Amino acid sequence: MKTEFLKINSVCETDKLRHAGEVLRRGGLCGMPTETVYGLAANALDEAAVRKIFAAKGRPQDNPLIVHIADLSQWPALVREIPPRAEALAKAFWPGPLTIILPKSGRVPDAVSCGLATVAVRMPSHPIAAAIIRAAGVPLAAPSANLSGKPSPTTAAHVLHDMDGRIDLIVDGGACSVGVESTVVTLCTERPRLLRPGGVTLEMLQSVLGEVDVDKAVLGETDAGERPASPGMKYKHYSPDADVRLVRGSVERFSAYAASFPLRETLILCFDGEESAFPNETMTIGAPSDAEAHAHCIFRALRDADARGFRTVLVHCPGERGVDLAVLNRLLRAAAFQVIDL
Ligand code: TXA
Ligand code: MG
Repeated sequence: MKTEFLKINSVCETDKLRHAGEVLRRGGLCGMPTETVYGLAANALDEAAVRKIFAAKGRPQDNPLIVHIADLSQWPALVREIPPRAEALAKAFWPGPLTIILPKSGRVPDAVSCGLATVAVRMPSHPIAAAIIRAAGVPLAAPSANLSGKPSPTTAAHVLHDMDGRIDLIVDGGACSVGVESTVVTLCTERPRLLRPGGVTLEMLQSVLGEVDVDKAVLGETDAGERPASPGMKYKHYSPDADVRLVRGSVERFSAYAASFPLRETLILCFDGEESAFPNETMTIGAPSDAEAHAHCIFRALRDADARGFRTVLVHCPGERGVDLAVLNRLLRAAAFQVIDL
């Protein structure tokens, strides 16, 4: 299959948007920008189109997809009902990086929910994502547009790298602003439960919902054979080819630890101002307290490490506050839970 690449700079480029809408309406796959990461979209109501997403990504068949909408009026048809706390979340955070799980309606194909009785819905805030959904005229199922297991794409070039020849169209709408995937919260449990941390922080959810449970898969490993609340959390994920390790401790100890790895094969991801402590190649992920900066660059840094041939990536471990909880969640999986406490 030949993959078409289309740069769309603004929602005024209506011919290009109409074209993307047509590709989706006739059952094609389209890589599209969102504010979190690039998505791999198909018509969520077209079972055959949705199945192509799994094939293109090599995605396990039991990992359900998020349905993207552009207007609140698209939500009721997808779910059994919208309880007040769901409405409150949508009012506070949509459009934006929040995914809400509710019992699904009969209109959602099994290919989307993978046998679950629930459906995940989000309204992205990226203007081009919203315009593509409107042009398609249907809700769009879209996972992150990476090959399954690889770091999520935050530029159209990343999508091209993973998906060239596998999908119909890639829309380039520039780099993603948030840089990590949406927050996933389920309202199908007695108390709201955070399944995946993301751009809308736990603290922000608590400000609307009061108490929010945090699923143990957020910072822990799920045991083999265990069925986690969010199937995606059980897979090795977000991993570059390089071996990733998270390092906790002072920059002095980190630098001494790094010295035990081959100098030229080892990339250091550290905080601003720490670069000079290492003889290695370094990339900074922002000031230690700048969680938004960490989120913005973490997937790009992991992809760059592979592109530049590094065998090992040592990362100075961020904290858990704000969006850092999401960064830590992704890094723990990229590192297969290898955390070095110094
Ligand atoms: O920011 C995002 O959410 C991006 C952009 C493209 O919107 N999408 C994304 O999709 O990250 P994906 O497929 O990579 O991750 C979806 C996560 C998975 O962990 C999946 O298991 C979970 O959401 N999920 C989807 N539907 C679910 C459901 N009904 N119940 C529990 N978890 C669900
Ligand atoms: Mg993903």
